[in-house]
Amino acid sequence: MLVVRRYMQSSNQRVKSSYILKELEEKCATPSSKLRLIADAMSVEMHAGLASEGGSKLKMIISFVDNLPTGDEQGVYYALDLGGTNFRVLRVQLAGQSGIDSQEFAEVSIPPQLMVGSSEALFDYIAAEVAKFVGDESEKFGPLPGRQRELGFTFSFPVLQLSIDSGTLIRWTKGFSIDEMVGKDVVAELTKAMERKGVNMRVSALVNDTVGTLAGGRYDNKDVFIAVILGTGTNAAYVERAQAIPKWHGPHPKSGEMVINMEWGNFRSSHLPLTEYDNTLDAESLNPGEQIFEKMISGMYLGEIVRRILCRMADEADLFGDTVPPKLKTPFILRTPEMSAMHHDTSPDLKVVGNTLKDILEIPNVPISTRKIVVEVCNIIATRGARLAAAGILGILKKTSRDTIKDDEVPKTVIAMDGGLYEHYKEYRHCLENTLNELVGDEVAKHIKFVHSNDGSGIGAALLAASHSQYI
Ligand code: GLC
Repeated sequence: MLVVRRYMQSSNQRVKSSYILKELEEKCATPSSKLRLIADAMSVEMHAGLASEGGSKLKMIISFVDNLPTGDEQGVYYALDLGGTNFRVLRVQLAGQSGIDSQEFAEVSIPPQLMVGSSEALFDYIAAEVAKFVGDESEKFGPLPGRQRELGFTFSFPVLQLSIDSGTLIRWTKGFSIDEMVGKDVVAELTKAMERKGVNMRVSALVNDTVGTLAGGRYDNKDVFIAVILGTGTNAAYVERAQAIPKWHGPHPKSGEMVINMEWGNFRSSHLPLTEYDNTLDAESLNPGEQIFEKMISGMYLGEIVRRILCRMADEADLFGDTVPPKLKTPFILRTPEMSAMHHDTSPDLKVVGNTLKDILEIPNVPISTRKIVVEVCNIIATRGARLAAAGILGILKKTSRDTIKDDEVPKTVIAMDGGLYEHYKEYRHCLENTLNELVGDEVAKHIKFVHSNDGSGIGAALLAASHSQYI
């Protein structure tokens, strides 16, 4: 009798979990027709954001970078890259057309309490690391003769840029939340902290990571036109014609161009395939109602979406037994690197999935059939994210008329990509690249290339510090 009951239960479970899975698949579907609508919406919002300040959810921030690196940059420059869970200090020796002579860097993780503490504590911590880096370097290279050190500051949050070397924080994203910083000039804050720590350095360029990546990418390849970050957060920058920026009232740049930091993470459209999991994730986040695109496609959130789906399956379909495993209820416990590892598991018994569930979520002895469901959930969520990111890129190509063949010509478009998600999540990366090819078609796809610009944002910031140096 008991045996029969257990069998009935498990078949019922299976029906329920396959129902939830099927429903998820349908809700997350991204057929190319939908992606095209999303790309169109992106391009419409781009126009609106360029037309007037506050004209769109897309900020379309004017970066004040109207000249990208040429390869003639020379000298020793620094960069500070802050934008996720780690920050990096870099020293680059630029040798004109012979390229980069040497580079050193230090990477430090940011203690979580500093992401939600006070601005002074955060910047003091960073400045202390810069002081350490410069101190170590003086021992190695001796003092820099008669010149103030110059720094490119990559600050990867929405900043209303006031000039190439100043800008005020619009709001935090990606798990940072220090209210008193909003509205303040981030360069002034960093400069004060460096003074407190006895570091004599001038910030000569303030850039978003997308803008830094674009600059770093252009240094290596003159056809780089777009930069996309897929990491903790997501965003894109591209080169716009100055005449296509009605809200720009400054002098017409000699190049006729201006780099725009889109802040596409805040994009939103009724065409986005949002589910109940996205809605609750958003409602419980530090920034409800904001960064909806980012919350569907970037590294900070993918693992968390998967966790929420597994939680529902555990609750309603007894996926892991009679009760919901307590660890599974902990927000953000399943990170995207672990999701990626499970998704890429090719072992016949899905050992990586089994071990991850055991080690991270403390769910032992999960049968293969359940492991397969977990992989399928990872696949659905990664595929949706990657395909949406491709739609975003199509939006930029449309806005800049690079998505079609005109007069037998297609401009060559190289897209500089960076961020941990792009770099390490192979399935995601392949899906993104294949989807863009699918959307533009083979002929146009031949003229589009993705390049991984490894730490392009730091080097790009150092290059922009060089081209905006006080000594030239
Ligand atoms: C977030 C930030 C944005 C940054 C992106 C990638 O979306 O708001 O400025 O470029 O993350 O790091």
